[in-house]
Amino acid sequence: MKITKIIEKILEPKYKKAIKDYFGDRVDEFWEELDNMDRSILFDDGTEEFDGHNPDHIERVVVLGLLLCVSAKAPLELWRLLLVALKYHDCGRVDNQEDPAHSGRSADIVQKMYESKNAALASVHAKEELEMIKIAIQHHSLDSKLLTAFAKDSTQYQLCAYLKDADCLDRVRFVGLDPAYLLTPHAKKMEKFADWFHSEYVWSAE
Ligand SMILES: [Fe+2]
Ligand SMILES: [Fe+2]
Repeated sequence: MKITKIIEKILEPKYKKAIKDYFGDRVDEFWEELDNMDRSILFDDGTEEFDGHNPDHIERVVVLGLLLCVSAKAPLELWRLLLVALKYHDCGRVDNQEDPAHSGRSADIVQKMYESKNAALASVHAKEELEMIKIAIQHHSLDSKLLTAFAKDSTQYQLCAYLKDADCLDRVRFVGLDPAYLLTPHAKKMEKFADWFHSEYVWSAE
């Protein structure tokens, strides 16, 4: 389902209002960008497998990442980069198995999308931004301890942490989520929401 449609149809109206308030006077630009996703790039094993990495996982992770940024009042410029990382963090998957190398493949695909001027990356304005997005994608399946390489208040750390936390929150689709793995205080408060969200929205071809 389109991301904007999920927000309109699945979430309570208060969330839509909070998101629009967060976007402020740039609401049109940011609202439109939510659906600017190259779905042909996404991993999709063609099943309606509810616990894999198909587009429904990506859609939930985008919404969870957005709500994290809304509650943290994260800078919109951070959100602009994070959105790209959220959409394509798993595009290099080849199956649903344990596969730490998929994050490197995802980053390579995003690099190629940028080089081929894929319109879905129109919001990435410079090579430096692309590099930050790729680093966040590369780290999403690596040990969080590696993030000590970045200052906690840096854009790079925050990109990595929000992507990791949004992805981790959707682990409610497996046996459960261990909050000890969450990095940001805002994510630690979202466990129940993530559980509810997964039960409300699992898959739709709309
Ligand atoms: Fe992943
Ligand atoms: Fe993921």
